[in-house]
Parts: sequence; C-alpha cells; structure tokens
Amino acid sequence: MNFEFSEEQQMIRQSARDYAQRELIKDVIERDDKAIFPTEHVKNLAELGFMGMLVSEKYDGGGMDTVSYVLAMEEISKVDSSLGVIISVNNSLVCYGIEEYGNEEQKQKWLKPLARGEKIGAFLLSEPEAGSDATSQRTTAIDMGDHYLVNGVKNWITSANSASTYIVIAQTDKEKGHKGINAFIIDKNSPGITLGVHENKMGMRSSDTHSVNFTDVKVPKENRLGEDGFGFKFAMKTLEGGRIGIASQALGIASGAFELAAKYAKERKAFGTEIINHQSIAFKLADMATEIEAARFLCLKAAWLKDQGLPYGNASAMAKLHAAETAMKVTTEAVQIHGGYGYVKEYHVERLMRDAKLTQIYEGTSEIQKIIISRAIYKGEI
Ligand code: CAA
Repeated sequence: MNFEFSEEQQMIRQSARDYAQRELIKDVIERDDKAIFPTEHVKNLAELGFMGMLVSEKYDGGGMDTVSYVLAMEEISKVDSSLGVIISVNNSLVCYGIEEYGNEEQKQKWLKPLARGEKIGAFLLSEPEAGSDATSQRTTAIDMGDHYLVNGVKNWITSANSASTYIVIAQTDKEKGHKGINAFIIDKNSPGITLGVHENKMGMRSSDTHSVNFTDVKVPKENRLGEDGFGFKFAMKTLEGGRIGIASQALGIASGAFELAAKYAKERKAFGTEIINHQSIAFKLADMATEIEAARFLCLKAAWLKDQGLPYGNASAMAKLHAAETAMKVTTEAVQIHGGYGYVKEYHVERLMRDAKLTQIYEGTSEIQKIIISRAIYKGEI
C-alpha cells in the first residue's frame, strides 16, 4: 500500500493551500459576517482550475483525480468552507452528473462553461417536505409532448442565486414512485423561476442558500438527463460522489480548527507554562489529531476507489459520517482550548464550529449515512 502522493497531487494541494492562506484568509471574517458571496474568489479559483477540477480536459475541465480533489477541498475548507461547498456542488453534483449521465450535446452546451468556471451550477433535490426522504418529491415535471412543465418548490439550495445552471429533480409519474422521477438541466433564467428569501444561516454564511419556486416552467425535452424515470438513481449516484466532497470539506474544517488550536496551545501561557504542557490540553489535541487522521484516510480511500472505477458509495457514506462528526467534535474542542478568545470572531474557530454543524446535515444527515452503511452491512457488502 502506497501512502505517498504523486508530484502532481502535491502540487495541486500546494496551489490550493497557497491561495487559501494568502487570499481567502484576508476577508473570510467579513464575508461570513455580512453573508457576502465570494464572487472574485470563485473567479480566481476557476482560473486555477478548481471549479471544474474533476471534469475531463475534453470538456474543458482540469482532468484531476478525486484524490487531488480531497487534498484541494481540505486546504480551501480549512480557511473558507463556504467556498468549499460551492466548489463541491459544482464539481461533484452538477459537473459529474452531466459528464457521467448526460449526452454529448448536453456536455457541449452545459458542461463546458461549468467546467471552465464561467458558470456555476446548483443541485435542486431537497424540498420543504422531501429532505432526507428524497423519494417523496412533490415538484412535478409533466410530459407535454415536446416539453416538460415544471411546478413546485425546492429548498435549501446551495448557490441558488449565483448559479445559472440548475439540475432539478422532479416527479413525472407519481404512480411509478421513485421510478417516475426525472432529472433535468434547467437554465436559471427560464421564465417561471423565482427565488425565495436568502436563508440567514448559522454557518457557511457566504455560500448563498435560497428556496426556488417553479411556476409553469417550460423545459425542453432534450434537457432530461438519462432515460425516462432515471432521476432518482441519478440523484443517488451523484450524491455518492458529492459526499466525498462534503467529507473533505468537513475534514478541512476539522484540520483548520486543529491547526489553530495547536498553535494557540503552544503560545498561550497559563499557570506558569504554555497550555500545551497541561495534560488536559495535550490529550485533547492528541484525540483531535487522531480523529482527523482517521477522517482523512476515509476520504482518501473513498476517492481512491472512485478513481479506480470501483464501487465507492459505502466508503463515501463512511467518510462523510466520520468527517462530519469529527468536524463538530474538533471545532468544539478548538473553541474550548482558546477559552474566551475562541468565542470571538477574530480567532476563526467559532466560525469553523458554526460551519461544521452543516456538514452533519446536508448531502444526507449523519443519520442518512448510518442508514446507507447499515443497509450495506445487512446486504453483506461490509
Ligand atoms: N445508487 C444507485 N441506486 C440507488 C442508490 C445508489 N446509491 N441508492 C438507492 N438506489 C436505488 C435503489 O436500488 C432503489 O431502486 P430499485 O427499486 O430499482 O431497487 C431506489 O433507488 C430507491 O432506493 P431506496 O428504497 O433505498 O430508497 P429510500 O427511500 O429508502 O431512500 C436514502 C434511500 C439513502 C435514504 C435516500 O433517500 C437519501 O440518500 N436521502 C438523503 C438525500 C440527500 O442526501 N439529500 C441531500 C440534498 S443535496 C444537497 O444537500 C446539496 C447541497 O446543496 C449541499
């Protein structure tokens, strides 16, 4: 087993680290505070190739592997996990969904601008009454012969305002249950699409999250992804990769908080010595480092399986579960180690703690990951 990264993987990690530590850090507190979408940073990261890093070069992407994606996501999310989720949704859900399941015409038209980072994508699955229970789609896409007519409401949509390309999951034939669900590529500027309020979130505040309303939106037939009725499986397959992205984001949040806490513990003195010399602090840091390393290995294992063309759905659920739980634990401890300083914005750890919470909720809560893992155990896959 080889634990070394290739030169290319190391370069990609370094490039993400340099940008995050040099540029993202400058205004991350203000962007979080005022919930400002990081437009300029998205542009710069697109130029560095990160917005479409997983897309093949044939479709104007970076052609990078999933292991490199984990490394880049960790570095970016250490400083700004809002950018982490924007990159993750664009790469793992939207671009991957089109590249893997779209036809050639769809890839030429929709994928290329997303891969170049000229456009941003959003993934519209969740609804007010279909979050974890994703088969209960109420948004309808009625087959009108030459087009579909889409009506309904989508909720908690990452990049809903800044994105211009939507992948929308909707019910075409209720009688068929999940086999009657389809996935469509829809231009956000289509008549009949309106945004709900900007959600005033606890964390990940500079990623823009809205509900989206569809009223008699006409969607051309050629915008459907895959065969009729493939939409639910499309969403499930796409989320398998999305969870590697969110797991790596959670890993970045955890390792960012750990680095800050370790640095603080080596500098801050109490009771006549640096606080790292107190076992109560040193043992916390030891636990944090160990949990983070385990999360990193789970993320890299899932990424490696995907790169090898092997099944990775169970591995990505484990990575997402463990990394998200670790992010929450580690950021909470990082605030504790900082004492009062940890509770104010200037020290960054309180933001990381708020951001960590969302990784336990979106792209499948921790409980959803446990359902996936326990079903795999039942089937003898684990
Ligand atoms: N790959 C392929 N097919 C799959 C699959 C997978 N990973 N998982 C399920 N399926 C198939 C099943 O085989 C079944 O098909 P058949 O009937 O033909 O056998 C069908 O899909 C239905 O499967 P289940 O009976 O297992 O469905 P379920 O209702 O029990 O739900 C679930 C399964 C795992 C709980 C699923 O609903 C789920 O993942 N829920 C969470 C949804 C989620 O992650 N939402 C996140 C929103 S996106 C987001 O957050 C993006 C963002 O902006 C950050």
